[in-house]
Parts: sequence; C-alpha cells; structure tokens
Amino acid sequence: MASNSMEELVSLCKRRGFIFQSNDIYGGTKGLYDYGPMGVELKNNLKQSWWRSMVYERDDVEGLDANILTAPEVLKYSGHEDTFSDPLVDCKSCKSRWREDQLDNKSCPNCKSKDLTEPRPFNLMFKTSIGPVDDGSSFVYLRPETAQQIFTNFKNVLDSTSRVLPFGIAQIGKAFRNEITPRNFIFRVREFEQMELEFFVEPSSDDKWHKYWIESRYNWWLDQGLTKERLELLNVAKEELSHYSKATVDIIYNFPHGKEELEGIANRTDFDLGSHTKNQKDFNISSKIMKNDHSITKLSVQNIENKNWLIPYVIEPSAGVDRGVLALLNEAYTIDDKNSRIVLALKPHLSPIKAAVIPLKRNNEQIVNKAKEIKKMLQKLGLGRVILENSGNIGKNYRRHDEIGTPLCVTVDFETLEDNSVTIRDRDTMKQKRVNSDQLKIFYEKYFE
Ligand code: GAP
Repeated sequence: MASNSMEELVSLCKRRGFIFQSNDIYGGTKGLYDYGPMGVELKNNLKQSWWRSMVYERDDVEGLDANILTAPEVLKYSGHEDTFSDPLVDCKSCKSRWREDQLDNKSCPNCKSKDLTEPRPFNLMFKTSIGPVDDGSSFVYLRPETAQQIFTNFKNVLDSTSRVLPFGIAQIGKAFRNEITPRNFIFRVREFEQMELEFFVEPSSDDKWHKYWIESRYNWWLDQGLTKERLELLNVAKEELSHYSKATVDIIYNFPHGKEELEGIANRTDFDLGSHTKNQKDFNISSKIMKNDHSITKLSVQNIENKNWLIPYVIEPSAGVDRGVLALLNEAYTIDDKNSRIVLALKPHLSPIKAAVIPLKRNNEQIVNKAKEIKKMLQKLGLGRVILENSGNIGKNYRRHDEIGTPLCVTVDFETLEDNSVTIRDRDTMKQKRVNSDQLKIFYEKYFE
C-alpha cells in the first residue's frame, strides 16, 4: 500500500485549516501545534467517537474531567518524579542536545560528530509555580498523563456511583511532556491529548481483561477507518516496560515516518492504587511501591462475597488523540490521479463538515434562500457542522470539500425551484443523484446511522 509523505499531509493541513504551527507569527515554537477550523472538528469527532464507545455504549464505565495542574505528591508516589525521564546527551562540537536512544550510530544528527557527553536522565515533566509567590517553594506539575487523576479520584467515583468490580473510569484531556526532540509533525509534541481508560478488575482476572481490551481497542481503530495493512500489535519487551507495567501491548501504526506507537494497553497491576493508598500494610499489594505517609484515603474495594478489602488491578488502554488524528489523515489522504483531485476519504462520522449546501448561482436570491433553508434543516439534525458554501464556482467547491473530507455536497439549482429536488454528490464516487429535498432529512439520518 502506498504511503503518503509527511510533507503532503502537513501541506494539506495548513492549506485547508486543519493544523498550524503554534506561535507561527513569531517564528513558531517547536513541538507545539494548533488545530484550525477543520482540525478542531476532526479531533472532536475522534474524541466523541471514543467517548461514545467507552462510556455511552457500555454499562461499566464512568467519565471524569480532572485538573491538569497536579500536586507534586501525586507524581512522587506515581513514580514519575524518579523515573519519567529520557537519556539526554549534548554534542560537544555543535552544542546541540539529543535523546540518546534515538541517535543513529551514536552520532549527532546535526553535525555528525561522535563527541557526545555521557547520557544523563532528563525529567520530562513541566513545572509551574502556584500561588502569588514565585520563589520555587510551591510548585505543581502539568500532568504528564491523564491517568493519575483517575487514580486519585478512584474513591470519589466509587463512593458516588456505588460501582463494583469490574468497572472503569474514562478521561480525555491534555498531557504535557518536555520532549527533548519533538518531531514528525503532531506525532511527538510537548502538549497533546490523551484518551485514557483505567479499568479496575479483580487481581486474578487481569490477564483476561488485558486480552479483552487489546482486541477491543484494535477493532475500534479499524472502525475509525484505519486498515489492517497499516496496524499491528507489539508485545513490549520486558526491559522496555514502564515502571508500573506487568505487560504492555502497543497498537503500532505505519505512520508516514515509520511504524510507531499509536496506543498502549498496559496491565498496571495494583501499582498505582497501591502507591497512592494509605495504610499500605493492610493490603496484599503485589507490586513494588514506595512507602506512602501522605495519602489520607484507602483506595480499596470490598469483595461482596467474602467482604475482604482489596486493591484492584488496572488495565489501561491509553491512546494519543494527536497521533490518532495523524493516522486518520494519513489513511484518508488519497490522490485520485484520474480526476486530478485529492480526496480525504474520512469515515463520515469523523468528517469535519457533514454537508456543504451549495447554491448553483450565488447571485440568485431564490436559489440562495432555498439553499439556506435546506442548510438550516440539516443543521437541526445535530450531525455536526453543516455549511452554506456560497463562494461561486461549483467545481472549485467540490474540490475543496473533497480535500477536507465532506462526504456529501447538496447542490441547489434552477430545477430545485421547479420540483424541489436537489443534487447530492458523493465525495468518493463523485456520483450525483437527484433527491427531493423533503426526503433529505431521512436520507441524511440514514446515511449517518
Ligand atoms: N498513561 C499511560 C501513558 O501515558 P504512554 O505510552 O506514555 O502511556 C500513551 O502514552 C499515548 O499517548 C501514546 O500511545 C501516544 O499515543 C500518546 N503520546 C505519548 N507521548 C506523546 C507525545 N509526546 N506526543 C504525542 N502523543 C504522545
């Protein structure tokens, strides 16, 4: 299968308003990107699709939207203060800095010198001060993963919902990492979004649930339009596992720059709840954790049959929203040489614009009014963004909507004024058919079912 180049995707994203370099009017900031009018829709649609499958279509998951600014204690006991680092090296010749584990032939990518410093750990967490005095005494971290606030809120959610095992808590939100070498467009950035589920299970059922979530998440990505040819599962080698993981399977996607992680599904065991709980000795915690003298809450559940209190195990599917967007763009980007056009063949539920209503003559009041009426009717269906495309040339409008992935364009013309019919033009096949505008509502509802 042909792969697109990153340059093609970056160019489309800028041209059509999907993604821009952050702060570009001041020269841009590395590793930071902004989502434009089309990008924000695509990203929101992806997040909504995840939320629907994780929360609305299940009976065993609750949602959460917790804070980004995180108390140091949370990231101390989570192990992030000690272990969340990458090996940093300096090039002694050109003074540039690199991640040692990403160097080819242990030489500087900038000047090719092999005269590098010994690697030293560089913690990836951003710090900021909190309160009116900025003397370094009171600081917080910008969370490096959304997961930790799920663990710290475990008891709050449990007590307010009366859940029993197994159950999960889902969260979508920003995470921050001071990556040494951000690169490959939105693949590795310093500010990004995660979609994370922490699924709490009886300790003895962890392997079963791990398998379940690996399969479920792989199939979900297929449902979003990624193809089996570009996806694979990778068992993370023991020596590469994160400090909290007993086993992790990565969903790998063949991005334009190569095969890399799109999502990780980890068995975090009882590490996190065990680390953050008070009275750790009261429990039979299996993982190696730090002694905690600060927590004021027991993060445990009671077994309904034998009444024993236990610390659940956690299975965590953790996906990157931005990497998801990049994979979807790559998968959808199609060059249709025969018709000299670029088509973004996104699944309709992900398309930034669900329908463009196009008046054939932009100066004809009757046609324009009819188009506005149809657009209003479609907007009321609540499918997402529906717009009136009144910029003139019909051919150009079709090309623009092909490139941003609008699945259907509705054209209003002189015939509409006579018999109330409109043309629906399909993005992928370019086929057009005439439909009575009274039937459009039913047509659209069926199409987006
Ligand atoms: N809570 C587990 C966790 O954070 P991770 O493998 O470090 O695990 C999960 O991150 C996902 O977050 C990754 O699979 C990736 O999609 C995304 N991600 C991680 N670092 C990223 C970065 N610097 N830029 C963009 N996405 C990133």
